[in-house]
Amino acid sequence: MAAKPVLALARTLPEAVEARAARDYDARVAPVDAPPLGGEALVGHAAGADGLLVAPGNAVSAEVIAALPESVKVIATFSVGFDHIDLEAARARGLIVTNTPDVLTDATADIAMLCLLGAARRAGEGEAMMRTGEWIGWAPTQMMGVQVTGKRLGIVGMGRIGRAVAKRARAFDMAIHYQDSKELPVDLAGDAVFHPTIEDLLPHCDVLSLHCPATPETTRMMNAERLALLPRGAVLVNTARGTVVDDEAVIAALKSGQLAAAGLDVFTGEPNVHPGYRDLPNTFLLPHLGSATIETRNAMGFRALDNLDAVLLRGGAPGDRVV
Ligand code: DGY
Repeated sequence: MAAKPVLALARTLPEAVEARAARDYDARVAPVDAPPLGGEALVGHAAGADGLLVAPGNAVSAEVIAALPESVKVIATFSVGFDHIDLEAARARGLIVTNTPDVLTDATADIAMLCLLGAARRAGEGEAMMRTGEWIGWAPTQMMGVQVTGKRLGIVGMGRIGRAVAKRARAFDMAIHYQDSKELPVDLAGDAVFHPTIEDLLPHCDVLSLHCPATPETTRMMNAERLALLPRGAVLVNTARGTVVDDEAVIAALKSGQLAAAGLDVFTGEPNVHPGYRDLPNTFLLPHLGSATIETRNAMGFRALDNLDAVLLRGGAPGDRVV
């Protein structure tokens, strides 16, 4: 029997995913998961591997790619986002790179709604009060938040996740406004109002939810000038990537009241969190939980393995090739 291809898993993955990898590959599991393998440790882990399965947290830089053993043909990331991989370097090296779209859309849209409601309704503050025993009972003026019913939700990035958020928000009677790098066919946008630029969109957003990829163009896209275009007292939701906002500008807007609250699931330089966010009462903070359900994480792992199987077991083209 021919030897199985070697697959280096750079993170600890759900049990069912590791079991399938072990069934079909000579699978090498990561020696540690925290901190995630990077640099020389990641290169060393890939020794002799045909495929490398990474995830956010594994920085697959140009240097790492240049140092990877010749045997590596494909890098599959256990994520839809691929900003942790230097795609140019991968392309130049002739590597195939794949991601896991679709399967995390609903879970991530759910977390966006949790961030939206958590921030608008001050759920973090309320929950903390219950835990510290400071609650002294219902009061007419206690912890009044922002009502979402009937408000306008602005979505930046009307891709799969943006649309799933719009669908959920409609159940809250929110009016949908959006901006995207490409205009959508009307049937996909429903009754959502398209704005050609982010500057056009922002004045129409009582709540703004970010669903664009992290690219050089979107880095610190939500800066002080753009935050000032929102109606005063708007709520900001970010489940995309921390780098799409200018942290200092968001913190200043939360302090001044330009933003009533922010619900954030992603941060620049994770696992670091700007201390300004932690110090403010009007932030609702989650540790990048967008896709964190058992069902979704299994589906992401299987999708990553489907892509690896296409290349390494069948010598074909993967379904989710990004390079
Ligand atoms: C992704 O897949 O890019 C997510 O951020 C992980 O939840």
